[in-house]
Amino acid sequence: MHTVIVLGSPRKKGNSEVLVRAIAKGLESTGGSVEYIRLNSLSLRPCQGCGGCDKTGACVIKDDMTDIYSQVDRADRLIVTTPIYFYTVSAQLKIFMDRMQAFWARKYNLKVKYREGEGRKGYLVATAATTGERIFECAELPVRYALDAMGFDYGQPLLVKGVDARGEVIKAEEPLQKAIVFGEQIGAGRL
Ligand SMILES: Cc1cc2nc3c(=O)[nH]c(=O)nc-3n(C[C@H](O)[C@H](O)[C@H](O)COP(=O)(O)O)c2cc1C
Repeated sequence: MHTVIVLGSPRKKGNSEVLVRAIAKGLESTGGSVEYIRLNSLSLRPCQGCGGCDKTGACVIKDDMTDIYSQVDRADRLIVTTPIYFYTVSAQLKIFMDRMQAFWARKYNLKVKYREGEGRKGYLVATAATTGERIFECAELPVRYALDAMGFDYGQPLLVKGVDARGEVIKAEEPLQKAIVFGEQIGAGRL
């Protein structure tokens, strides 16, 4: 099983990255392979809403998304990670998701059934500084629908709140252990 992990935080070794690396450890222990895409290091233009993908399912912008489309298509599992920024996903992740309009067009305009029936699943991993009940609400819905456009069913998310300083979640034993088990369960096909 091949998993692609999209790092949506601009912070290297930040909380969302620490968590997803623990998930990867669990996944790899079951024999799965993992590949990372660090959005903040890439050159990605926001969607221009030009409609260029409507009839082709392909984006007209030529930048680092070109490789990302192939990486996502090869994935059996996709994990998108983000810090919560003003109650939603990071700008880096939002650009990635908007550019998936091309895959939306492929699926819903062109009715292409790409890898349909394979049970591909996608997951959200998000971290936030505060602990409000609804803190992840405005991240879950957009991620869920972007995953659908990419051909992944929405799997159980891993959401950790109350972490702020870079990488401080590494000191929190419970979420880290939970993340390793989360990865093992994805790898075993139980999640
Ligand atoms: C621009 C910005 C906006 C933020 N907005 C929120 C917010 O609305 N709610 C919240 O709980 N935390 C907010 N945070 C804190 C981050 O979500 C938190 O530090 C998170 O753990 C960072 O994850 P990372 O280390 O993976 O980047 C914000 C941080 C930044 C820099």
